[in-house]
Amino acid sequence: MFDHAWKLMPKKVREGVTSYVDAVRIFAQIRDPKVLRSLAPSGVRGLLLKRGKQGVPARMTASHDAYFDWTYPSDQPEMADLYARAKRGQWDGARDLDWATDVDLENWERPILPPEFADFRYGETLGIKLSRADQGRLTNDLAAWSLSQFLHGEQGALLAAAQVTEAVQFFDGKLYGATQVVDEARHVEVFSRYLDTKLGKLYHVNDNLFVIIDALMADSRWDMKFIGMQIMIEGLALGAFATMHQLTSEPLLKSLLRGVIQDEARHVHYGVVALREHLNNEVSDRERREREDWAFEIAMLMRDRFMAREVYDEWFAGSVSWDDWKLFVGRSPGMEAFRHNMFSRMVPNLREIGLMSPRIQPHYEAAGLMRYFGGRAADAITAEDILGAPSASLTVSAA
Ligand SMILES: [Fe+2]
Ligand SMILES: [Fe+2]
Repeated sequence: MFDHAWKLMPKKVREGVTSYVDAVRIFAQIRDPKVLRSLAPSGVRGLLLKRGKQGVPARMTASHDAYFDWTYPSDQPEMADLYARAKRGQWDGARDLDWATDVDLENWERPILPPEFADFRYGETLGIKLSRADQGRLTNDLAAWSLSQFLHGEQGALLAAAQVTEAVQFFDGKLYGATQVVDEARHVEVFSRYLDTKLGKLYHVNDNLFVIIDALMADSRWDMKFIGMQIMIEGLALGAFATMHQLTSEPLLKSLLRGVIQDEARHVHYGVVALREHLNNEVSDRERREREDWAFEIAMLMRDRFMAREVYDEWFAGSVSWDDWKLFVGRSPGMEAFRHNMFSRMVPNLREIGLMSPRIQPHYEAAGLMRYFGGRAADAITAEDILGAPSASLTVSAA
């Protein structure tokens, strides 16, 4: 019945409502009622009401407790060490990057993203037929879209890091947290400046990213904020930054990402330290299961839902179907490299903090993610390990 009505709709109307249909599909996939209840309000605000696209300021209501400690204890040596390292690792985004670098978007010797980022031969079979020059422009737009989402994610990280600093109960965690707030401010500064002065383009926040940010900003439970921010969003960021760092030949962007990755590696390490003990020893089995399910659903949202909807709307709405675009983006070699980098960071961290019990592992197995299970977690990996990882070689896979 639904399919029949769907086919009768004019194509333009159909494309106009695909994002709503997608929203319903996302929530239909969430099996656990508790996870559904906790994500549904953010889903309604982000996917149905499109709050991310309704101008500024965007308001999110927070309801967590702020913890003070008037005795100033030294209570967590690993966090104290991260605080010391963070103070020494500060850099100045205005002074330490060569902003005089000429970024020429038509220079294919030093592209922002390599031409093989997307598989245009496969695209042709889906009706995405473009000249060489337009292929280059679309690839540049995909780079600008990715960097715009990095920037929006960094704003989320800036505000969430401030919340986490209030909500954490380790005093050493509060001191460390203040450095993360500064780090995230610097990341907002450099991504914003790069987009503004070098690419001249800024895309709206993606609805799915909005949902994740909204969910963790509004959740009153401090450990949910930590899992959302320090493990999931930071894992996503680290995967995305590492991929772009490996792929780009543009020297300013490469050095900008190097600086950001060094900071982010500390952030994820902090998340693992803060959550490991808490989730293994201090929450009930029921609470741990709920967090495990929540993390899995967010991981699925991250795997399947960053499909550059805003670029599609600009280039192909009305001419190429949304489902075909998702195939084109989802199977692009660049996106495959991103997913690989993201989950090779995130899954070992989830294991390390106790959110990969045998109960949830079959779900990760079905999603093809258990191959990352044995990797090193953030407390056993350095930024240099991430930066020194072999360059992703983009191979165009057969469709
Ligand atoms: Fe950041
Ligand atoms: Fe961060």
